[in-house]
Amino acid sequence: MAWPSELSAWTNGLTTYSGEETERRAYELAACLPANTVLTLSGDLGTGKTTFTRGLVRGLGVTGDITSPSFALLNTYQGARQILHVDAYRLKDPAGFDDLLIWDLVTPPWNLIVEWPERVASKLPPDVWAMKIKVVANQGHHFVLQLPTQA
Ligand SMILES: Nc1ncnc2c1ncn2[C@@H]1O[C@H](COP(=O)(O)OP(=O)(O)O)[C@@H](O)[C@H]1O
Ligand SMILES: [Mg+2]
Repeated sequence: MAWPSELSAWTNGLTTYSGEETERRAYELAACLPANTVLTLSGDLGTGKTTFTRGLVRGLGVTGDITSPSFALLNTYQGARQILHVDAYRLKDPAGFDDLLIWDLVTPPWNLIVEWPERVASKLPPDVWAMKIKVVANQGHHFVLQLPTQA
């Protein structure tokens, strides 16, 4: 399976200039995200990981509040798919990821979205979709997507 061509904007790198623009672009990306995949979001605090997730999760058909799981660590949503949104920032030890029982909870079709994946790298599969986010000039937020190598 070839990745949809719409993904090239993300893999080439795209810059947004407001939270709304990030949400809108992430909403559109949802159509290209295959079920049963992990998407990691790497970037400093305030780069837009949760804002991006809000748009993506809405794009997957979820309505209602989509908030940061920074205290709960895990939020789950049910749209056309089951969506698990993890914020691993407060996990000092990757073993804490096991306590969330993610791999016991998932029922296909699902997507797992992970903020601060560096904290739990050893617990994630090798074939993740990896988004890197940085704040750049003129208050731009720059997103680059790395796709897993295809078999
Ligand atoms: N281009 C942009 N993309 C994403 N967020 C932006 C952008 N410009 C401003 N913001 C603001 O930056 C903040 C990002 O917060 P958040 O998404 O919680 O970041 P993180 O989860 O990475 O800590 C929000 O208040 C958002 O409105
Ligand atoms: Mg966040």
